[in-house]
Amino acid sequence: MKINSKTQNITNDIFKKRRNQLIDMASDGVLIIPAMHSSIRNNDVDYEFRQDSSFWYFSGFEEPDAVMVLDGKSKKKYTMFVNPYDPDMAIWVGARVGAKGIEEDFGADKGISINKLKEKLYEITEQHERIYYSFGDDPIIDPIIKDILIKRRQSSDRRNKNPLEIKDPSPLINEMRLIKSKEEINLIQTAIDITEKGFLKAMQFTKHDKNEFEIQAVLEYEFRAGGSKRNGYPSIVASGSNACTLHYIENNSILKNSELLLIDAGAEFNYYTADITRTWPIKGIFDKEQRAIYEIVLEAQKKSIEIIKPGVPIAMIHQKALEIIVQGLIDLKILNDTKENILENKDYIDYFMHGTSHWLGIDVHDVGNYKQNNKSTILKPGMVFTVEPGIYFGENIKNIPQKYKNIGIRIEDNILVTESSHKILSNNIPKEITDIERILK
Ligand code: GLY
Ligand code: MN
Ligand code: MN
Repeated sequence: MKINSKTQNITNDIFKKRRNQLIDMASDGVLIIPAMHSSIRNNDVDYEFRQDSSFWYFSGFEEPDAVMVLDGKSKKKYTMFVNPYDPDMAIWVGARVGAKGIEEDFGADKGISINKLKEKLYEITEQHERIYYSFGDDPIIDPIIKDILIKRRQSSDRRNKNPLEIKDPSPLINEMRLIKSKEEINLIQTAIDITEKGFLKAMQFTKHDKNEFEIQAVLEYEFRAGGSKRNGYPSIVASGSNACTLHYIENNSILKNSELLLIDAGAEFNYYTADITRTWPIKGIFDKEQRAIYEIVLEAQKKSIEIIKPGVPIAMIHQKALEIIVQGLIDLKILNDTKENILENKDYIDYFMHGTSHWLGIDVHDVGNYKQNNKSTILKPGMVFTVEPGIYFGENIKNIPQKYKNIGIRIEDNILVTESSHKILSNNIPKEITDIERILK
């Protein structure tokens, strides 16, 4: 079944509701949120463009270089600076909607050419004592904001104007993005469902002597065929010890029967991404050592998912996974001390060196705090995050019996916190040993 992206788009009403919510939270100032800029790869060829995530969250507008201004004090609350309408550009890269188009099609109260940004932005900010702007993120807009600040400082001395201060809106924006609405959860679910099809095809296509990038091609073909325009992040297709390089994206080794294949990938669907990892044996069945390690990771993953519900601190998920992995490695005599000492001294760190969870949404490592007032963030309904413990015994790891060398295993699912519990959004993607071996047959 093809997924029709038009039926699952976030509508202009939803973008407007988001803007109004942000305006209410920042009612003591004016918000300035720039779009992403295009970036030259060589000569007249750009890198593939993707809109800035927060800019898109509030606008749904996909052109580069625009600047959004949200001003609660003004009758025209939503101004957007855009590249001018340019019929010549239409021949080369597609039409720019221009100032009129941003009003008519995207609900801006006022569209202005980006060429007037400097002078108009000064005028707009004159009415305010506070600008909400994330300094440091945008090398093109930063100097414009700095100039406004300096000009205002000078004139506030001489012309009795109010001073101007800059405040970062990110905490407000991130707080909004952290809690997902029904529409957002549907989009994440669709991204996961597409990703599931890719993983199943990749499992079926796995064979000794194929290159990792051939498996990647099958995986990503299914993503595209399912309606995903691009990946949420570069696919990790890692056989053998490559899996022990956490963000391995070379994907250019030959698969060997004696090894495992780890794939960490996610289709993006209408700006929302999945983030799934599965690990399976290239020859189709797990050998004794692979199975022993896999079972530890699987138990850690399942048991740490079980405790997810509103009120639980996010850090507790990692703690649970860690304890099970440490116990498993003690049972296999890979770690040789008491559980308490191993946890205290972090003796596991060479084998399980990353966190267990991160927020997931428009970005794969989505925005949102993991701590507040130095305490672990408490889970609330609508939060979506990953649970992804792993064990890695790379080629150069010391004190590991040879038989475990080159094993790298991670299992990653995407979880929604519900009103009273949780939902594993990626529950259909097989991870039980019997299910995986049946598919690989
Ligand atoms: N795909 C990156 C991660 O799992 O965090
Ligand atoms: Mn992840
Ligand atoms: Mn991942």
